[in-house]
Amino acid sequence: MHVGGNMTTSEIGPDVVDVLIADHRDVTALIAEIWSVRDPMVRRDLTDTAISEVVRHAVAEEMYVYPAMRKHLPDGEKAVEHDIEEHKELEKTMKQLEAVDVSSEQFDTTLRRLESLLADHIQDEESEQFPELRRRVPRDELTELAGKVETAKKLAPTRPHPAAPNNELFHKLVGPGVGLVDRLRDKLTGRATR
Ligand SMILES: [Fe+2]
Ligand SMILES: [Fe+2]
Repeated sequence: MHVGGNMTTSEIGPDVVDVLIADHRDVTALIAEIWSVRDPMVRRDLTDTAISEVVRHAVAEEMYVYPAMRKHLPDGEKAVEHDIEEHKELEKTMKQLEAVDVSSEQFDTTLRRLESLLADHIQDEESEQFPELRRRVPRDELTELAGKVETAKKLAPTRPHPAAPNNELFHKLVGPGVGLVDRLRDKLTGRATR
């Protein structure tokens, strides 16, 4: 037990807002990369990776960050309700994306929609809710939340990557096209039946 003024390593690490903003940047870059790729298999892999990243980020937020917003923000309840609605929209769009042929025009339309929903959602969180969190939540709690978010994201299989040896395993575990979003969410929240 650490008593007194000594700072432990975790107390000087990143806070939860740093972690979430880094996720936002990563997934935005990943989607930009999808646009730049033509090979259908690589496109599929990058898309599944993006879906996986967004789901694990969203689940971690709902498990740990949104409860903190509810507790500490003056309009927390309303903000969380709004954010969860947006997560549902994102997931609906990702389900479409997971089922559609990556070479089709519908893929482009759906990816465009995901990109725009994400940009809006990220804008809301980063301009309104995250600054409020930093203002109102004690620094040690923000740091602890960072750790919890990192751990929560790791519970599901790691991100697939083109040509990575674990890619096939990922698809076996999570299922290709058969409810990637739902099965990831189940795994992350521990609701999986097996
Ligand atoms: Fe977020
Ligand atoms: Fe979110």
